[in-house]
Amino acid sequence: MKGQARGLPALDAVDDVAAVEVEAAEGGGGQDGLVALIADEDDAAVAAGQIGVAVLAVGVQAPLEDVAIDHGRSGNQAVAAALLYGADVDQEVAEPRGFVGFGGGEAVDFRRRLGEQLFHRRQRRLPFHEDSHTHWSQPLASGRGKKMLFRQIIHEDLGCASYLVADREHGVAAVVDPQWDIDPYRRLARLHGVRIGHVLETHNHADHVSGHGRLCRSTGATIHVHELAEAEHPHEPFGDGWKLELGDLTIAAIHTPGHRPEHTCFLLSDAGRGGAPWALLTGDSLFIGDVARPDLAVEPREGAADMFRSLRDRLLVLPDEVEVWPGHLGGSLCGGSGLDLKTSSTIGFERRHNRALAIEDEAEFIEAQVGSLGDKPPNIERIVGLNKGPLVEDFGTPAPLSPHEVEELVEAGAAVIDGRTNEQFDEAHIEGALSASSYDTGFATKVSRVAPPGADIVVVAASSGDERAAAQLLASVGLPVRGFLEGGMTAWRTEERPVRRIELIDPDELARRVDGDAGPVVLDVRNKSEYAGEHIPGSLHIPYGDLAGRLDELPADRQIATICRGGKRSGLAASILQRAGFEVVHVGRGVGVWRDGGHPVERGAAEPVVS
Ligand SMILES: [Fe+2]
Repeated sequence: MKGQARGLPALDAVDDVAAVEVEAAEGGGGQDGLVALIADEDDAAVAAGQIGVAVLAVGVQAPLEDVAIDHGRSGNQAVAAALLYGADVDQEVAEPRGFVGFGGGEAVDFRRRLGEQLFHRRQRRLPFHEDSHTHWSQPLASGRGKKMLFRQIIHEDLGCASYLVADREHGVAAVVDPQWDIDPYRRLARLHGVRIGHVLETHNHADHVSGHGRLCRSTGATIHVHELAEAEHPHEPFGDGWKLELGDLTIAAIHTPGHRPEHTCFLLSDAGRGGAPWALLTGDSLFIGDVARPDLAVEPREGAADMFRSLRDRLLVLPDEVEVWPGHLGGSLCGGSGLDLKTSSTIGFERRHNRALAIEDEAEFIEAQVGSLGDKPPNIERIVGLNKGPLVEDFGTPAPLSPHEVEELVEAGAAVIDGRTNEQFDEAHIEGALSASSYDTGFATKVSRVAPPGADIVVVAASSGDERAAAQLLASVGLPVRGFLEGGMTAWRTEERPVRRIELIDPDELARRVDGDAGPVVLDVRNKSEYAGEHIPGSLHIPYGDLAGRLDELPADRQIATICRGGKRSGLAASILQRAGFEVVHVGRGVGVWRDGGHPVERGAAEPVVS
C-alpha cells in the first residue's frame, strides 16, 4: 500500500467526496488499491489510496496530515475507522480482496469489518457530523488484549446507564439493560463492526421501558433474563452462575436479590487479559455511593435483608480492583440520596466510602434502608408489566397537529404537556396544560408522576424537533404521545387562540405578600426529607407528584404560591393547580434563595394539611 496515498487530490467539500466515492465504486473493478476518504471535523477530506472500493469515514478526529494509508501509526485509527464506519461497495464483500494491513503488522479482516450491515450505505451520501464522532476517542487497535469493546451509555434524563460489550474479533456484542432509544447501540455496533446478538437484563425495570423488544426486532438478538423474572416474552432464562461467552469475553451471572427477587449482576472477565474478573455490571444493587432501593417489588424489609446478603456475600467478596458499573447514576429515582453522579467506581473504593456498605449489622442496615426511602416511583407496576410482557416495539409516531386538532383532543380529555421552560409557560400557555421543561433532567419522570392516567398526551415544545425528542423521553417511561402542536405556541397565537398565564415572582416578593393581609398560602411541593430539613414557617407541604390526588386539602378561596428548590417543580405544581381551577402564583426560585434573602426558615416534618 505504501505510497498510494500520494498524488491524490485533497477534497474539500462534501459533494467532492460523494463524487469520488461514486467514481471509485464505478471504476473500481480490476483495480487493486484502496480508496479511503477520510473526512476531518471540518468536512475536508483526503483520498488516501484506491482499490475499487470506496470507504468513507466521518468525524475522524485525527489531523489530516496524520491520515495516510502508508503511515503505520497515527493513521491507523482513521483508516480502520473508515473501514468500520461506512462503505460504498460495488465489489461484493463476499469476495473480498483479502486483507488490508495497517501498521504494526496487524491485519484487518476486510470482509468482516465491512460487514453486511454496511451495505445499506451504498449509493447514499453519508451524513457528516453525525454525533457518532463522539465515539472515536479510543484507538481501534487490534491484537490480543485490545479487542475488547466496552461502552457505557447514559440516559441523562432518567439517570440510567446501559452497556454494550463485545469481543470485536468474535464480532458479536451483548447489550445490558438497554434503554428505550436503541440508536446508540446500533451506532456503536456499526462503528465497531460487531453484531448485537444478545440482550441481558439485570431485572425487570420499574422506572423505564426496556429497549429489548426494539433491539430484538432490529437485530434478532436473544434476550436473557433470570428465571425468577417470569418474563412472558421470548427469552432464554438463566440462573445463578450462568455464563455467556463472546470470544475471549465471559459474562457471568451473579444472582443478587434485593431490589427485585430476580436481580442479577454480571461479572466480566477477559481471557485476553489474564481471565480474572475486571468489571461488575451491578444493575440496581450496588450503586456509586449508595445502594438500590429495596421496596419496589417486595415488602421493603424483606428486600433490604436480601440486599444486605447479596452485597456482603456475593459482591464484597470480589477483589478490590474490580470495576463497578451501575445501572443508575445520581438523579435516578431507583437510588437513595447518597447516589453519586460519577459513572463508575471499584469494589475497593465502594467498600471504603459507600455509606450503605459501612453498615455492618443487618438489622441496622435494614432500618437505614427502610427509613430513608423516598416517594415510590410512579407507574411502577405498569412499567414492570411492559417489561415482563410481550415485547414492546413501538408506541406509535406522534402526529403533527394543528391548533384546531389540539383543541379537539383537549376537549376529548387529552393532556397537554408543555415541554418549554417553566418561565415560557408562565408567559402564555394553552389552558389546562401542564408545565414540565424537557430541557431539564427528570422530565419524563416528572411527567409520569402527574400525567392523568390513560389520557392522550399532546406535547408543546419551544422549537421544531424538540417535540419529537420530548416524545421519545416520554415513551421511555411508557407514556405514548399522540401528537404535538406543529409550529408550537407561535402557531397557536397566530390563530389568536386564548392563552392562560401564571404570575411568576421571586422569594422577596413572596415575603412581601405573605406579610400583608389576604396574602397567598405558601405550598411547598418538594419531597418529605427536603421539607423536613428546611421550610418556610407556616407553609403547607404536598409533594408535586401527590398534588392531583390531594387537591381537597387546599383552600379553594385563597391564592396559592407554589415553591420548591429551584422553581421547576413549583412551576409544574402551579400548572396542576391552575388546571384544577385554583388561583396560583409561581415562585420561580426556591427555599434556599428565600433563606439567603434573610427570611425565616424552620426545620421539622409537615403538619397534616387541613383546609
Ligand atoms: Fe430498577
